[in-house]
Amino acid sequence: MELPWAEPYKIKMTEEIFTSSREEREKWIEEAGFNLFNLSSDKVYIDLLTDSGTGSMSDRQWAEMMLGDESYAGSQSYLKLQKVIKDTLGFPYFLPTHQGRAAENILFSALLKEGMVVPGNSHFDTTKGHIEFRKAHAIDCTIEEAFDIDDLHPFKGNIDLNKLEEVYKTHSKEQIPLCLITVTCNSSGGQPVSMENIKAVKELSDQYGIPVFFDAARFAENAYFIKEREANYKDKSIKEIVKEMFSYGAGFTMSAKKDGLVNIGGLLAMRDEELFRTCGNFGIIYEGYITYGGLAGRDLGALAQGLMESTEYPYLQARIHQVEYLGKKLMEYGIPVQQPIGGHAVFVDALKFLPNVPRAEYPAQTLGIELYKEGGVRGVEIGTLLADRDPETREDRFPKLELLRLAIPRKVYSYKHMDYIAAALKNVYDRRNEIRSGYEIVWEPEILRHFTVKLKKK
Ligand code: F0G
Repeated sequence: MELPWAEPYKIKMTEEIFTSSREEREKWIEEAGFNLFNLSSDKVYIDLLTDSGTGSMSDRQWAEMMLGDESYAGSQSYLKLQKVIKDTLGFPYFLPTHQGRAAENILFSALLKEGMVVPGNSHFDTTKGHIEFRKAHAIDCTIEEAFDIDDLHPFKGNIDLNKLEEVYKTHSKEQIPLCLITVTCNSSGGQPVSMENIKAVKELSDQYGIPVFFDAARFAENAYFIKEREANYKDKSIKEIVKEMFSYGAGFTMSAKKDGLVNIGGLLAMRDEELFRTCGNFGIIYEGYITYGGLAGRDLGALAQGLMESTEYPYLQARIHQVEYLGKKLMEYGIPVQQPIGGHAVFVDALKFLPNVPRAEYPAQTLGIELYKEGGVRGVEIGTLLADRDPETREDRFPKLELLRLAIPRKVYSYKHMDYIAAALKNVYDRRNEIRSGYEIVWEPEILRHFTVKLKKK
């Protein structure tokens, strides 16, 4: 018998999680204004709110925490990180930041002015927030296949080159400071971008003189999919693929809380020295001196080690297979999920799951609440609440897909946990026809409303 793969690690420490009754959860979610972000973690059994900063670190990363050099400037931990960013990711200049959105803040402070546009595949909500906050526009150029959950296109994070060229043709070079490729594309379902597409975007952007940047939060998972799905890359190592992918970029922002395998941290990297100096000044104002940027020395060391580990094939194989296992289990139960299954999460199609809940009553949020009440499993809405209101008309924006995201933390839950999640969702699915109404907003902030919105039952 051929031996199967298994996780390339064993577990040294465990953490208790808390069970609860359905009655308790019904009370808690009402007290939380029907917003899953408002629940404290002891009220959640399995937490799939995010894969961001929720992973477990390796013993070597913990060793780096102990070795952390806390010098204000030029610490040894910074130098370790610098070496990894140069050797493994291929960038000469970088700034550490406290997380991904801080890197976005610095980059856009340096490059973005009112009225400009930033095209890309599909910007993450904080990225869009930073762009719109500066009265600029984020333009999504995702391929149409991404909006059909049953389409098996292997790279649904790809940029539609015609849509991108249309943006380039209808705006001047000065209006477009950069094109942003998010790998993997969170907003379209954790879907990867092919190397072929990255290369083509780079070529097209070169013709128009527009620099290409990456939002690299899940760059290693993207590299894994390139290896698995793009014929020319099957014999290349993940590190080789990562190096090539980044070679097409002028820089990247990164939330290191994902593929950096750390609980806090971010990065902004670039090739251009002048841009580095400009960003460095913003970094000092917003984050801290350029060699620590809002992080402790120990965080920098753990991140350097994390980047080395996340770019190893066996780790990525175990990671992606666990997410796929959950997705396939849900599909066996007939539950509509985004296919192919994404890298960091399973995305459930709430419009198909709950056809009786009106679109204006937030079906994906409704599904998230039902799943929580059923099993204490916390997912997150990637739908109309997240899409926010149009900044000009203040009307709800209805995205093409209304999804419940079940994000799997890295190296945290077992396959039994996956079975439990699937069973809880199946129970909700079995009574889907009885769920006929959703929620309405009682209070919401100006932007990024999904974090703090308060709802009541319709
Ligand atoms: N870009 C992408 C693609 C992301 O997924 C995130 C965060 C960010 C940028 C911002 O990074 O949180 O470190 O400031 N995504 C998390 C999520 C929050 O749940 O998907 P951050």
